[in-house]
Amino acid sequence: MKFFVDTADIDAIRELNDLGLIDGVTTNPSLIMKSGRNIKEVTKEICDMVDGPVSAETVALDAEGMIAEGLELKKIADNIAIKVPLTLDGLKACKHLTGEGHMVNVTLCFSANQALLAAKAGATFISPFIGRLDDQNLDGMELIQDIRTIYDNYGFETQILAASIRSANHMKDAALIGADVATAPPAVIKSMASHVLTDKGLEGFLKDWEKTGQKIL
Ligand code: G3P
Repeated sequence: MKFFVDTADIDAIRELNDLGLIDGVTTNPSLIMKSGRNIKEVTKEICDMVDGPVSAETVALDAEGMIAEGLELKKIADNIAIKVPLTLDGLKACKHLTGEGHMVNVTLCFSANQALLAAKAGATFISPFIGRLDDQNLDGMELIQDIRTIYDNYGFETQILAASIRSANHMKDAALIGADVATAPPAVIKSMASHVLTDKGLEGFLKDWEKTGQKIL
């Protein structure tokens, strides 16, 4: 499973990129607002740092507007994935932009039928939002499973990009189902490394090592 980091915070992206843990980045208008940066400037910095796909989202509501904004965002760097919403206009823009060879991430997906349409429109990535479904007492992970089944039934190449991930358990469950990619906030990705028994075990080993009086270097 590929890991994308879901943020426009340059320092957080750098930290994870330096660890070698991320394969791409996703942003959205809310994350750009949170960064306090200009979308083109911050996206350029991210694209210069990270080799994999960097999703940048359009804000127009009509297909023509999305296509125009997408092509403008695409000028930032070759690794831009143009993000469009899962509406009929978004699907039309997706079909057009992927037809021209651009990567497209269709976002705000909340149903298997929406994901089926995105695959028909040739989307590079479909972004089902797990956490926001869970917030409504629905089962976000069941949606990932349904999309996996449908895409495998027909050999659709659209990659399932599990989004709105809120916990390390979401990462594990998405991986068990076989999501192609998961995008998560930096803190969630870092939290995957934590285990109380790792901390306890390390403490014990270091105490015993001190007693030996030895040094490795
Ligand atoms: O990638 C989409 C994601 O940013 C949405 O996450 O936590 O705002 O539901 P959240």
